[in-house]
Amino acid sequence: MRETFAFLGQAVTRFRSTGAVVPSSRRLARAMAAEVGDLAPGAVIVELGPGTGVFTRELAQRFPDHRLVAVEFNHQFAAALRAQLPRVAVVEGCASQLPDHLRRLGIDPGRVQAVVSGLPLLSLPRELGDRILAAIRDTLPIGGRYVQFTYAKAPWRTRRPGGFTAARARRVWVNFPPALVLPFVRD
Ligand SMILES: C[S@@+](CC[C@H](N)C(=O)[O-])C[C@H]1O[C@@H](n2cnc3c(N)ncnc32)[C@H](O)[C@@H]1O
Repeated sequence: MRETFAFLGQAVTRFRSTGAVVPSSRRLARAMAAEVGDLAPGAVIVELGPGTGVFTRELAQRFPDHRLVAVEFNHQFAAALRAQLPRVAVVEGCASQLPDHLRRLGIDPGRVQAVVSGLPLLSLPRELGDRILAAIRDTLPIGGRYVQFTYAKAPWRTRRPGGFTAARARRVWVNFPPALVLPFVRD
């Protein structure tokens, strides 16, 4: 409940970048993490826009032996997540700078096999969204997974990320509002 209020507070002051009024459900978090699939030992998972960490906790539980990097723009969310999940490398910064963040952490981008995004890509400025998609594309190797959630499927028909093949979308009704999990595979 404390997280819901913290999220709501940020949504009120920074609606465009927060992109939702309450955190995602545990059910959506499970569906997102399931789309990561099987990872090779030593693979790194990147999460973009973790907010209060509902996807982060699910990823940490499902992949206890893999390195997790979370990139969050909002200072309050980043600080709280760092305190709660010390095993996750929480970077306070913009997702569009992903290759630089990885370099600073000493992570070879070739080790990143999955990017899980809680970013409100459709409500961010178009140019920023395009730079974020390019950063994800430049980071993932062929076969790498990019998992995005969205509340609206239609805009993604004209906003297909270049360099990826879309896999089957899954709807998660138990979320406010109901959401879709969009998995993409790097070509
Ligand atoms: C819709 S919320 C999702 C939070 C969480 N993943 C969830 O599902 O409950 C979007 C999150 O993305 C963060 N965000 C927005 N733009 C960002 C950017 N350019 N780089 C990193 N994080 C960003 C926001 O601060 C917010 O925490």
